[in-house]
Amino acid sequence: MSNYLNAFDLLDWYVTAGVNESTGDYPIDRFIKRKAPLSEPIANTDFAPTKPLKDPIAGHTQQMPFQSREAAVRTAEQAAEAITSLGELRTAFEAFDGCSLKETALNFVFADGNPTARVMLIGEAPGAEEDRKGLPFIGPAGRLLDRMLKAIGLDRTNVYITNILPWRPPGNRSPTDTEISACMPFVERHIALVNPEVLLLVGGTSAKSLLKRPEGIMRLRGKWMKYKTELGDLNIPTRALLHPAYLLRQPAQKRETWQDLLEVRQWLDAPVQTSG
Ligand code: URA
Repeated sequence: MSNYLNAFDLLDWYVTAGVNESTGDYPIDRFIKRKAPLSEPIANTDFAPTKPLKDPIAGHTQQMPFQSREAAVRTAEQAAEAITSLGELRTAFEAFDGCSLKETALNFVFADGNPTARVMLIGEAPGAEEDRKGLPFIGPAGRLLDRMLKAIGLDRTNVYITNILPWRPPGNRSPTDTEISACMPFVERHIALVNPEVLLLVGGTSAKSLLKRPEGIMRLRGKWMKYKTELGDLNIPTRALLHPAYLLRQPAQKRETWQDLLEVRQWLDAPVQTSG
């Protein structure tokens, strides 16, 4: 057997193991023999970067002072409290250093659509394409979301879209409770500033964290609920929807989601008081 893996076998092995995207800005040829000791930089003349590579780990330890979960939440609450416009929110959220996802993400992903829309959608976190372009829901799940919205006469001119987290979790892992709580004061302020007539919480993470309910998405979908603030100043009719990324994997669940969307359409056509 050859000592060297065939490049195609290696690629095949990566794909089988779930490695399906490149995370660096520049390709690294792992077949080049190292001449220098590991502690010295390795010159790869074929793919020499024209700008210094970002070292996410060094960047993290140098730039982001450690903050406990409580300290991060307090900082976020204080910053969010003072905000009176979406422009200010965007600036303050982007400057916030209490969520370590900021260190590994390429872009801050704030929102898309019409901030005066009747409908506000809140997803979980940016994926790879969203991270590259800085806009929410523009990858495969976003394209399905657009088709779902179109089916009930909505598009990005008459909805407003954001996420719980503005930074992509590495490898699209689920966000941790600490990351969610650190960003939550900004998300709550975001909802208050947009003050939509209807909130659509896309996926379990968004539904559970904003409704502060322990049930999973399968129990939360299919009914009207209320998004309420502690001060009681907001009381917004809310629906939880199955996440389009889940629907891409489980197309049989689209039927339930279609029913949910029809009920949203009915509500928009004839708003009624909902309990919950
Ligand atoms: N999934 C989300 O929840 N949000 C996005 O922006 C993209 C994918």
